[in-house]
Amino acid sequence: MEQKLNSLLDQARGQLDRITKGGAPGEVQKQLEDFRIRYLGRKGEFSTIMQQLGTIPVEERPRVGQLANTVKAEIEKCFEDQKKALVGTAGVNGAGFVDLSLPGRVQECGRLHPVTQIMTEVCGIFEALGFSVAEGPDVEHDYYNFEALNIPAHHPARDMHDTFYVSESILLRTHTSPMQARIMEDQQPPLRVIAPGKVYRCDSDITHTPMFHQVEGFLVDTKVSFADLKGILTVFTQKMFDTNLALRFRPSFFPFTEPSAEVDIACVICGGSGCRVCKQTGWLEILGAGMIDPEVFKMVGYDPERYSGFAFGLGIERIAMLKYGINDIRLYYENDLRFLSQF
Ligand code: DAH
Repeated sequence: MEQKLNSLLDQARGQLDRITKGGAPGEVQKQLEDFRIRYLGRKGEFSTIMQQLGTIPVEERPRVGQLANTVKAEIEKCFEDQKKALVGTAGVNGAGFVDLSLPGRVQECGRLHPVTQIMTEVCGIFEALGFSVAEGPDVEHDYYNFEALNIPAHHPARDMHDTFYVSESILLRTHTSPMQARIMEDQQPPLRVIAPGKVYRCDSDITHTPMFHQVEGFLVDTKVSFADLKGILTVFTQKMFDTNLALRFRPSFFPFTEPSAEVDIACVICGGSGCRVCKQTGWLEILGAGMIDPEVFKMVGYDPERYSGFAFGLGIERIAMLKYGINDIRLYYENDLRFLSQF
């Protein structure tokens, strides 16, 4: 048995020496692992010899046992030395070596939020049509949010807005329409502006979040007509939804436009034949619009006899929901990467 142990040591040293660098990636690691299993593993050669310890005379056992310990320690040491020499000591989790054959770890890459993507797309379409982009404050004066848009105090239209008030005269804007008043007050026609941004309403359910995004658009010049509004919105919806979608203008009311309309597109899901998404109507409402009310022009000091214009306001989340077929708006704001990374 002593002889077996000694020749095992020689054999092990010999095999370790033959493991050299080079070859396919991971080859060295594989050979080292094979060596470890063969000599030091639970069912390896050393264990096999040790199982025979019980068969030798009792008085010889201490000596042989001691030799066995020395041999094992020596094989382990040679193994570790060779491993260090071949693959270094740097390792993951103290494993002792780096396995270069493992696949690399993919770096997670951030991306634009779907709402930002749609916002950029919407703005891009209007910029291509000659609109310039303006941004205004989220914390707004009551005056611009309501008063200047022909919604005086106690006007019933204020009820529609579920306003967050900061103080009696300061609030979080409930729509992007105040930008109409701000820009017109500051600049003279001709104007062709879009104003994207966040708006706030005290409302939360499957189709409402307390903060959402709108894009306001307006055009003021001499001789602007409802036909111009129709033309611009037709081009917009066709570009946004990529098809020749039918448009429908439904009479409506907004205090700052006259006449006013709510604009529907043929349902992007069923094409107009009726489905769950369009509630069997074949139509989806996508924005509010109209001809700017002469009262609004008077407030900003424009002559309503000379100028006319149209305005429209659309909800970005709503467009994103229609475009991607998503029925719960809250998904956009739960920060679940499984949802967000699909866009
Ligand atoms: N500001 C309206 C809202 O948030 C949307 C709107 C309707 C904007 C008609 C307009 C418009 O510019 O002409 O409900």
